[in-house]
Amino acid sequence: MVIGKVGLAPMAGISNWSFRTLCFKFGAEFAYTEMISAESIVRNLKINEKYFPKDIEKKRVAVQIFGSEPYIMSQAASMVDGKGAWIDINAGCPVKKVIKKGAGSALLKDLKKLKKIIEGVKNNVKSKVSVKVRLGFDEDNFERIYDAAVEAGADMIAVHGRTAKQMYSGRAKWQIKNKGYIPLYINGDIYNSDNIKIAMELSGADGVLIARGAIGNPWIFSNITPSIFERKNVVLQHIDLLYLEVGDIREFRKFVAGYTKGLPGARQFRAKVMKIEEIDELKMAFEEYFLSISN
Ligand SMILES: Cc1cc2nc3c(=O)[nH]c(=O)nc-3n(C[C@H](O)[C@H](O)[C@H](O)COP(=O)(O)O)c2cc1C
Repeated sequence: MVIGKVGLAPMAGISNWSFRTLCFKFGAEFAYTEMISAESIVRNLKINEKYFPKDIEKKRVAVQIFGSEPYIMSQAASMVDGKGAWIDINAGCPVKKVIKKGAGSALLKDLKKLKKIIEGVKNNVKSKVSVKVRLGFDEDNFERIYDAAVEAGADMIAVHGRTAKQMYSGRAKWQIKNKGYIPLYINGDIYNSDNIKIAMELSGADGVLIARGAIGNPWIFSNITPSIFERKNVVLQHIDLLYLEVGDIREFRKFVAGYTKGLPGARQFRAKVMKIEEIDELKMAFEEYFLSISN
């Protein structure tokens, strides 16, 4: 399963079509959808259509599903088979609401169940199947998790170098063991090209996934520092794409900090922009701001 070296990680509320489009423009080689509930897919496929990759990006975007019941996961997988480049199983989400239902990283506490889910999904789809995990639930158990994924037939594994218990605290561990049976992707705290290089060296991974480092910074995939002019153009394009996709410009607020990080007067500008609800007003505010700092 060859998909490239540097990809955009799945992020609920962030890694949608509009943002993926910009990440691809700047060199991301693959991406994931936001996580989609398997239960919800089985109940009503149509309401989940908004999450699926668009035709133009389909060959390089995986559909990520989450759930806890092997049967429902395999049903959901067969329903989304072919809607993306491959199917990814979320076994890393540490959010309480998800764990309480036995999904996401809760699966790392029950490797028998994780294997059953991977096997069930594999048996029900034509697509390749990957799994995204953390190092473990409350302790680093990665070798056993890796073995379980390989035994169950996973075609690829991506690991965020923290336990679920850690949430986002501490630093992500990149020094993990790659036994090399299937492609391995390392993830966590990758913010620049040096990080990519070191994370790959330490882990021996085949590539990396970038999540937070890409929010409001799609240039991370191209290793260029954008000029103010370029930054402005991308922000305006992002606003247009996002509006086209979700029709609510307030969704752009999640990206404002990233796009203005380290720029003069960013704090005051953010406070102002976070209240804007109209697309034209938002675009104008950014145009004025970038003009004011380019002189
Ligand atoms: C806002 C947000 C939403 C996320 N949503 C998902 C998700 O839907 N599925 C998933 O597997 N991981 C999700 N993650 C985890 C990321 O994919 C990634 O594993 C984690 O943020 C560590 O990588 P980073 O240090 O590059 O951010 C999310 C992370 C963030 C910050």
